[in-house]
Amino acid sequence: TQVKKGFPQGFLWGGATAANQVEGAYDVDGKGLTTADLVKFVPKEERTGVMSLDVNKAQMEAALKDVEGNYPKRRGVDFYHHYKEDIALFAEMGFKAYRMSIAWARIFPNGDDAEPNEAGLAFYDDVFDELAKYGIEPIVTMSHYEMPIALTLNYGGWANRKLIDFFDNYARTIFKRYKGKVKYWMGFNEINVIALSPYTGGGILSDTENADKLAYQAAHHQFVASALAKKALLEIDPEAKMGCMLGRMTTYPETCNPEDVLKAQFLDHFNLFYVDVLAKGIYPEYLDAYFAENNITIEKTDEDLALIKAYTVDYISFSYYMSLVASSKGGKEMTVGNLMSGIKNPYLESSDWGWQIDPVGLRITLNHFYDRYNLPLLISENGLGAHDVVEADGSINDDYRIDYMRKHIEQMELAIQDGVDLFGYTMWGPIDIISASTSEMSKRYGFIYVDQDDYGNGTLKRSKKKSFDWYKKVIATNGKDR
Ligand code: BG6
Repeated sequence: TQVKKGFPQGFLWGGATAANQVEGAYDVDGKGLTTADLVKFVPKEERTGVMSLDVNKAQMEAALKDVEGNYPKRRGVDFYHHYKEDIALFAEMGFKAYRMSIAWARIFPNGDDAEPNEAGLAFYDDVFDELAKYGIEPIVTMSHYEMPIALTLNYGGWANRKLIDFFDNYARTIFKRYKGKVKYWMGFNEINVIALSPYTGGGILSDTENADKLAYQAAHHQFVASALAKKALLEIDPEAKMGCMLGRMTTYPETCNPEDVLKAQFLDHFNLFYVDVLAKGIYPEYLDAYFAENNITIEKTDEDLALIKAYTVDYISFSYYMSLVASSKGGKEMTVGNLMSGIKNPYLESSDWGWQIDPVGLRITLNHFYDRYNLPLLISENGLGAHDVVEADGSINDDYRIDYMRKHIEQMELAIQDGVDLFGYTMWGPIDIISASTSEMSKRYGFIYVDQDDYGNGTLKRSKKKSFDWYKKVIATNGKDR
């Protein structure tokens, strides 16, 4: 047999965004408010963590009434009114794919409405048509860190079983409407962080009784909802594929002390668990054991388990920004992550936000996933959040970003050579957008600069960074010239 060399023909090069970080127009054309619309900006000096993880009902309701405050995800970068210009720039770079999300509340403003909102459906029709003009494949996340706020306040978010039906209705509505236009779907963004905060997908408020236990219940409801979505897709548009999305936290043991290795394996299970269920269709034994040891009982019916078993995902996608280190001992020097923190790895450099940059870890992750699941893989997020400087002549020389991506792309190629079936790479934030964790605009990932600051000042003018032409060359040569 021949060693696979280089990226396969038709490899899906592109970029990824989320509705709540890019669109803006938060109350336009019938859209309902979402959890993301209620995330208030906190300046760095006043921040206690990367984002507010504890949010109670009273805080949520106060934010709902606050029309004056600085809520950056309400404005995004106004993709809603700039999508033609932005997609033209993606096309100029030669994008083969664009991962985006649909804001559930544009389609069902309250989540439990009987009828969908036509203006919301029409907006995504326009976006998909615009992408089709340039031959860019949409890869669509159905729920990316947001949900209609009414589902959180009136139902308690995903802890409530009723959400399964509301989501099924939403799924069937969008599959029917966009049949033939969207070939790649995925359910929940970074499904593993569901319970961290009401802002990360689960919508469970921190003053909910038993919030910790309910987090597993909520995850179970999302598993059933994912299975039902796959079932609906098979009925409505059998050509299309359904995937899942994990925030991958590859965890190394700090030393070869078996106790450290065991600890790393234990922590890793809590990350892998979600894909184990969605891809293998079973609740892994290690989780049942954990539930038993910790007196956690969640409600799962036989019918739920049969659905989960029957309707597994067609492909696996994950975000990859960093790796973590685990130790069996306490008192170690820590480093921050996106939403998690870990022990400092002396072999790695960190980004301005303390994320430990680990390109080789991407090759390790790809091999590990392919060994474990044997399904096609998509890197649905990867990239570098940095402070960019606009020079006097208007240029932005983001060599650090080019360097970051070059090293990761190199490892992707090596993983393909190892035999991994990797079919796409949608780097995070091809255009500067609002940060998920800190709601900063000044944490930039893009090839395209957007003139806007953390307080919403700026012209929103788009301009090309140095990395724009670099990525264009990478795509034009299918990854060879980098
Ligand atoms: C992922 C999320 O965790 O990381 C994205 O899916 C997010 O929504 C990305 O934007 C980068 O994180 P941040 O906090 O730098 O925006």
